[in-house]
Amino acid sequence: MVAAASVVAVFTAALAACAGSADPGASGADDDTIALLLPDAKTARYETFDRPLFEARVAELGDYDVLYSNADQDPAKQQQQAESALAAGTGVLVLDPVDANAAVSIVSSANAKGVPVISYDRLVAGGDLAYYISFDNEKVGLLQAAAFVEGIGEAGAGEGEGEGEGILMVNGSPTDSNAALFKRGAHSIIDDSGLRVLAEYDTPGWNPEKAQEWVAGQIAQHGDAITGVYAANDATAGGAIAALRVANVDPLPIVTGQDAELSAIQRILTGDQYMTVYKAIKPQAELAAEVAVALLRGEEVTAPMEIDGTPTTLLEPVAVTVDNIMETVVADGFWSVDDICTPAYADACEAAGIG
Ligand code: GAL
Repeated sequence: MVAAASVVAVFTAALAACAGSADPGASGADDDTIALLLPDAKTARYETFDRPLFEARVAELGDYDVLYSNADQDPAKQQQQAESALAAGTGVLVLDPVDANAAVSIVSSANAKGVPVISYDRLVAGGDLAYYISFDNEKVGLLQAAAFVEGIGEAGAGEGEGEGEGILMVNGSPTDSNAALFKRGAHSIIDDSGLRVLAEYDTPGWNPEKAQEWVAGQIAQHGDAITGVYAANDATAGGAIAALRVANVDPLPIVTGQDAELSAIQRILTGDQYMTVYKAIKPQAELAAEVAVALLRGEEVTAPMEIDGTPTTLLEPVAVTVDNIMETVVADGFWSVDDICTPAYADACEAAGIG
């Protein structure tokens, strides 16, 4: 979190330094409207954090309109939403692509109109991008897998245990560029850990129901031999845990996640889920808003690094287990103790020293 804050500070200073050389119109922006195109509504973060935080920061920066759309995991719908935003004369696109490859045509349409595109959280696979803001996504996979291997070790399962034992991997959407990075990071640890991967699945659209259905099928095949389920985010972890519960698997295997969703923090407290990854969405959404407004004003933007020639800021993800809920999501104001410790979780909160 310290690292994330300082990256934003560096950026803001750079932005201020360029403000004097503002050249309205240089970007081709012709409007006071910013289109925010988010990918999915089954994952809680977009409607709960990304959208409101982005809109609030834009409102602080001036009198701009945000044209919001959510693609519900459908790349064709996202294409349409982008085309209608462009047709309405939007000045900047902030695009979190459902499908990294399909979204190249959105970027091409925007490029043809001189409308700058910010690739938000997921990197579009091509086109001329004005900015990319995300987290270190391979590190997300590393954090997940490191905690996973440790958790399985602590539970006394895994390595060399009974025959046929092993883990499942519930990866993210096959069209999400981040999902490939999470998977790569996770494999780089799991493959050397001595754990056996029984089966692996790329969850279409990160859909929790599909994750649940796949895990249910695996339980039918492997039952108690499953010592852990690597799930790439909290929504798919929720699906996996639901399948394990329905099948009465006891004890529950070690399950990972990502996004620090409230329901996941509560599952971590009760021991249903082992860990999640906290990504501070506030600096991410706010930086995207700042860059979008700077681009609308025709200002030059700078960044601490480049990926494929695109100015890029990558923020730091943080692993969360039952041991550091207070120091991470609570300390950062992401969730309050009151949010987490509802009556159903009061005992678990007390046991974990939360409050
Ligand atoms: C990823 C994103 C995660 C999670 C997931 C499902 O690209 O980085 O935070 O939300 O998509 O939408």
